[in-house]
Amino acid sequence: MEVEIKVNGEDWALSVAPADVLLDVLREQVGTKSPKIGCERGDCGSCTILMDGRTVRSCLVLAVEAERHEITTVEGISFEGLSPLQDVFLSSNAFQCGFCAPGIVLSATELLEQNPDPSRHDVQEALAGNLCRCTGYEPIIEAVLEAAKGGSA
Ligand code: FES
Ligand code: FES
Repeated sequence: MEVEIKVNGEDWALSVAPADVLLDVLREQVGTKSPKIGCERGDCGSCTILMDGRTVRSCLVLAVEAERHEITTVEGISFEGLSPLQDVFLSSNAFQCGFCAPGIVLSATELLEQNPDPSRHDVQEALAGNLCRCTGYEPIIEAVLEAAKGGSA
C-alpha cells in the first residue's frame, strides 16, 4: 500500500506493507539514519522522532499510522546548522558514543518548546524515556538547563 508522509518538510509517497514500522521505513526508504534501532519495543527511546511536533517512538508506530502526518528527525532541525540546543550539547561534550543523542535532542527540543524554563526535575522527566548507557545523564541534563538559560531550543 502507498502512504503519504511529510518528512523534514519533504513530501514522500512510500510503498509499505501493513506491518512495516515507521522506524524502518524512515531509515531504509527515506534515508534518515538519525532514528536509531535499539530495543525495538518502546523501552530505550533511541528511535524517538517528532510526529506533528510531539515525540513518539518510531519503533512503535506503523508506517501506515503516519499517513498525512509531519515527521521531524534530527536531520530536520539541522538544515541550517546545529540548533542552539545542539550547540550546547556539542560544546559541553554532553554525549559519549552518541547513540542516544538523536532521541535525546528531540525530547529536549520538545521540552524547551513547551517549557522554556524547565526545572531539573522537568528535564529529568522529559528525558526519562531516553536511555543513555554512557554518561550517567548529568552532562545531558546540565546541557539542557544551560540551553534553557540561553533562551533557545
Ligand atoms: Fe524504539 Fe528502543 S528502538 S524505543
Ligand atoms: Fe552513549 Fe548516550 S552517549 S548511549
